[in-house]
Amino acid sequence: MKKIAFLGGGKIGRAMISHVTETGSAEVAFVYDPFAKDAEICGAPVVKEVADPMFEGLDLVVECATAEVVAEFIVRVLKYADFMPFSMTAFRDDELRESAQGTAKENGHRVFLPHGAILGLDGIFDGRTELEEVTVETTKNPASLGQKNNEYAVLYEGPTRKATELYPRNVNVHAAIALAGIGFDRTHSKIVADPSVNTNTHLIHLVGKGIDFTIRVSSFSEGGVTGKYTPLSACGSLDRVLGGAGFQFV
Ligand SMILES: NC(=O)c1ccc[n+]([C@@H]2O[C@H](COP(=O)([O-])OP(=O)(O)OC[C@H]3O[C@@H](n4cnc5c(N)ncnc54)[C@H](O)[C@@H]3O)[C@@H](O)[C@H]2O)c1
Repeated sequence: MKKIAFLGGGKIGRAMISHVTETGSAEVAFVYDPFAKDAEICGAPVVKEVADPMFEGLDLVVECATAEVVAEFIVRVLKYADFMPFSMTAFRDDELRESAQGTAKENGHRVFLPHGAILGLDGIFDGRTELEEVTVETTKNPASLGQKNNEYAVLYEGPTRKATELYPRNVNVHAAIALAGIGFDRTHSKIVADPSVNTNTHLIHLVGKGIDFTIRVSSFSEGGVTGKYTPLSACGSLDRVLGGAGFQFV
């Protein structure tokens, strides 16, 4: 059975830990979360400190904490195991991305980039050479964007690189699309705070030679950074990474 660990045991992490525990598809060695109140999550021990030898013998480490945690651990983990990050805004840092790619290749490990809150990330990646213009517009309740004012406002409009710097917790979809498509400088981001909605909505438009895609994804939000759909998609991505018999969408 595959042995995995988690960095972060919040909404997305708990959904995946409970899923692998129920399906028996992997053994969870530990969950690193210095802020978690529980000593264990679904029987998996929560640890407050982590040292590199703890990654030895693992097949996969899943990050579901913050972009800083990706920056701190991705290269260290890739010396021992595969890595699946959910805090995609970390990849706005070109140096980090290149260093992770280099370490993965040197050590024969993979970085699995989950589609997370959006649909069709694999299709965007497949068509990337033909793409010319990519725009992503996200509308969330001000509380979900960490805003104190409960007012309608366009918070940002411009290149995705700056959006990911200003709102690292909120624009993982923008980062994922930039990464799969035409990069952080050429992808255009718009972030809207709207007190009349209780959903996280992403409107994505991709245009290129012979290509015109519009993707609209809307998912109920209880006020945190993550909508209803992402934990479900995270469990699906983890299942695909862990493998097993039967039908697989690829
Ligand atoms: N890729 C996507 O489409 C997508 C969608 C939604 C959320 N996200 C991102 O995924 C991540 C997890 O989301 P969530 O909804 O589970 O968040 P959450 O706030 O529910 O959980 C985050 C967990 O990480 C822990 N944590 C914080 N700092 C840590 C550290 N230094 N080391 C280890 N653990 C730490 C927190 O204690 C918390 O338990 C966030 O970065 C979020 O922005 C990505």
